[in-house]
Amino acid sequence: MIRKYRIGNPIPTDSVVKEIVLSEGTIPYFDRNDEKKELTLLLKKNDRVYGLGETVRGMNKRGWLYTSNNSDDPNHTENKNSLYASHNFFVVFSKEDQFGVYVDTPGKVSFDIGYTKLDKLRVIFEDFDADIYIVEGESVLDIVSQFRGIIGRSYIPPKWAFGFGQSRWSYMTADEIREVADKYQEAGIPLDMIYMDIDYMERYKDFTVDESSFPEFPKFVEEMKERGIHLVPIIDAGVKVEEGYDVYDEGVEKGYFVKKENGENLLAAVWPGLVHFPDFLNDDARAWFGNKYKVLIDQGIDGFWNDMNEPAIFYTQDHLDEIFEQIDEYKGKNLDVKAFFEFRDLVGTISNYPEDYRRFYHEYKGQKIRHDKVHNIFGYNMTRAAGEAFERISPDKRILMFSRSSYIGAHRYGGIWHGDNHSWWSHLLLNIQQMPAVNMCGFLYTGADIGGFGSDTTEDLVLRWTAFGIFTPLFRNHCALGMRHQELYRFENVDTFRNIINLRYALIPYLYSEFMKAALGNKMLFKPLCFEYDDERSAQVEDQLLVGESIMIAPVYTQNATGRYVYLPENMKLIRFRAFDDYDEEALGAGDHYVKADLNEILVFIRKGHVLPLAEPSKGMECNLNNAELKYICYDSDAASYELYTDDGVSRI
Ligand code: NOJ
Repeated sequence: MIRKYRIGNPIPTDSVVKEIVLSEGTIPYFDRNDEKKELTLLLKKNDRVYGLGETVRGMNKRGWLYTSNNSDDPNHTENKNSLYASHNFFVVFSKEDQFGVYVDTPGKVSFDIGYTKLDKLRVIFEDFDADIYIVEGESVLDIVSQFRGIIGRSYIPPKWAFGFGQSRWSYMTADEIREVADKYQEAGIPLDMIYMDIDYMERYKDFTVDESSFPEFPKFVEEMKERGIHLVPIIDAGVKVEEGYDVYDEGVEKGYFVKKENGENLLAAVWPGLVHFPDFLNDDARAWFGNKYKVLIDQGIDGFWNDMNEPAIFYTQDHLDEIFEQIDEYKGKNLDVKAFFEFRDLVGTISNYPEDYRRFYHEYKGQKIRHDKVHNIFGYNMTRAAGEAFERISPDKRILMFSRSSYIGAHRYGGIWHGDNHSWWSHLLLNIQQMPAVNMCGFLYTGADIGGFGSDTTEDLVLRWTAFGIFTPLFRNHCALGMRHQELYRFENVDTFRNIINLRYALIPYLYSEFMKAALGNKMLFKPLCFEYDDERSAQVEDQLLVGESIMIAPVYTQNATGRYVYLPENMKLIRFRAFDDYDEEALGAGDHYVKADLNEILVFIRKGHVLPLAEPSKGMECNLNNAELKYICYDSDAASYELYTDDGVSRI
């Protein structure tokens, strides 16, 4: 059962698509304090809190302060309150009772879950305007399903997007991309996608291609497709200010860019220097920007990633002018500690400066609204621009889309990746822990930058991360400018990498079936153990996951480990894979086990009564479209069945 309560006069987000009649009376479970603009509830000792999607820290969210305020922050350390997304749905549950809460508000809101006081959950609003949905059900999975039922079906990508993808900021020329494809081919490692980061564009202008480094682009796209590789270009939120550039000229002429109070277009800066931001919240501007993707689709492109759409702002012209006015005061002075800190704050906080987000306005549903009031739905509406346009431009065929910034609702139009992580072991664990939380909020096609984006990586980290990544729908190795190269063929253990990637392709019938069942049935693909097992021990496990109906995984995520402790809530069959056709099996009883897992080994546990279908590994998704030859690994010899989902992989559903 879902009840909806209204506080104040919330700006609609369109995240909930099912009509729900407003309930009268007080919001159940919570105390409401209008003066403090907060809702509070007392947590019982055994209550656990799960959800909040893409946030830092563990699966059980008790113990920290999370703020929905979409931020371009590349350091996802434990002390951060906000990352790129606002996923304001959580479930409070214990053995005794459980309920879900969705706080639908496009502005800033914080979730103090035992931060100020261990047993208190506070929802603290900047503007006390929100729709609050209270979801009650038989189990936590039932609550999640009901919630997913009101926010609309999750985005379904083309099947080829379940293949392996290689990315880097940036492959600078077509020849560099050819080299990546060649090297993967020589190494015998299947590859389905190569991502094109910002440098493919002509001076960072969206929907352009640099002719000198990518000559005859449509031909190049075709050439790569013939090799089974989809090129996936990035699209940025900022449109370069340059007369004669059609996107800029049209946007200015039609008034489609966000404006300051005085009606002038906001001048902000990102990669190309000065840019204007399209007003994705305005229906006409959104449709206009969405149609621009056609420029690349017409050249053979069938997938995109949307970036910098929090929006990230290097600086605004107004703020820069203010700094230049003040900076002379410091010239020639002996800066003591106070003066030095002032000076540092003046120039050091220039990017993503909070005041800049109050300098511009949107035309949203017939109202002029200051950006900070709707900040968290900006990236969502960029994804929506693309998603809505794809339905017009490509009515029959699915197009790949995933975004950095998001809000619940964006899950209907695209997937997400988890932003600029680092090549740290702790970020492999973070990746594991975020998967179920984003699933709860509707995002199914997700994954993190495998190997880590920032910092130099190491071969063992890439091995372990890839071994986990084979289970994530978005399976992409991506790395930042200037960091150590991490394409798999560059490492010594190429054979192991080949075996791991082959295993991913062998898993496709299972992963795709489970993904589709999750999308079509409003289910989670990744679940914490305690969502299905109600013993106390399962509730403590934060580093194992149930993936689909048949398997549990226990990734290794620590340096130099040759195995790990694994908790089994019931009897399971351990499969220790070294390759698709090289593995040992062991029946394990419920309880704790130390399980060996060398660098070349992947642990998969078949659940009681279940079956894991595997396909003969293929050279890429092109060959993986029919599941003709499947082998089945069963928990035991008892008859068991598995429902396989098949389709042509591209038609819209
Ligand atoms: C930030 C994105 O998060 C990252 O993935 C990308 O490589 C850089 N922008 C450059 O486009």
